[in-house]
Amino acid sequence: MQWKHKDLLDTKELSKEEIASLLDKAEQFYTLNRNPIKKSDILKGKTVVLFFAEASTRTKTSFDMAGKRLSADTFAIGSSGSSMSKGENLKDTGLTLQAMQPDCIVIRDSSSGAAQYLAKNLDCSVVNAGDGWHAHPTQALLDAYSLKKVWNNSLDAFKGKTVLIMGDIQHSRVARSNRHLLQKLGVNIRVVAPSTLLPKDVKTWGVDVFTEMQDAIKDVDAVICLRMQFERQQAGLIPSIHDYVSRYCLTHKLLSLAKENAVVLHPGPMNRGIEIASSLADSGQSLILNQVEAGVAVRMAVLSSLILRSK
Ligand code: CP
Repeated sequence: MQWKHKDLLDTKELSKEEIASLLDKAEQFYTLNRNPIKKSDILKGKTVVLFFAEASTRTKTSFDMAGKRLSADTFAIGSSGSSMSKGENLKDTGLTLQAMQPDCIVIRDSSSGAAQYLAKNLDCSVVNAGDGWHAHPTQALLDAYSLKKVWNNSLDAFKGKTVLIMGDIQHSRVARSNRHLLQKLGVNIRVVAPSTLLPKDVKTWGVDVFTEMQDAIKDVDAVICLRMQFERQQAGLIPSIHDYVSRYCLTHKLLSLAKENAVVLHPGPMNRGIEIASSLADSGQSLILNQVEAGVAVRMAVLSSLILRSK
């Protein structure tokens, strides 16, 4: 497939065929990443800038690794070590980086719309590595890749499956990007959270909305647990952590209400014992580390598709 997008800003903009193409490519890189020599030279001579103005372990490291495994030169900057700490704005920072002739800028920022804004102002490719509550497209792609691996390695198997997204939906870019992507693949989506952690527009999402875990989890095929994003929350959205844990923490007992072979995902970082029981996170039903491994392959697929697209 000829890739046509300059940027990857959200899963909303991807067709089912484009999702399939990225996941097929990722499959090849997944195999490469398990070889003793994990190197391809397809991005030799290309440059990728990692501009992470918000903390990250998984996304930043895996984009860096993805670029390097494809032989691109990668450079990382963050807001604290950059001239943004002296007041330079996002547009000028982007134009400054672009003047150094990178092929792609990967951006994470706490403001929703930051990646879109940069993409509009720059000629090089921009990949959204998470912007505020808005979108985290590569997370949704790697989640789909991880599910595909356990669902007959086929996107056709997604049709008619039911996925529950649980927890702090309101502050979650992962929930939003997963919702767009999984709906394109024919998945029925349920969300569950205290009503104070549900987005105001959730009724327009085309999902089934629950406030009680016991009802929401019944017969689902997979559960995506979300982190309680205390750093983005106003005070008073839940009565207490104790109350939240007693009603929403995903336990083996709650998961027993799902389908027998249901799997559990979490984008990380996890609050063990808050949104997910620690023993469940480490169990055979958890895909959490599979997701991390998939992240490198998926980001290799994204970088190569964008940078090598025909212009
Ligand atoms: N899932 C995710 O985005 O993790 P990081 O914040 O560690 O990148």
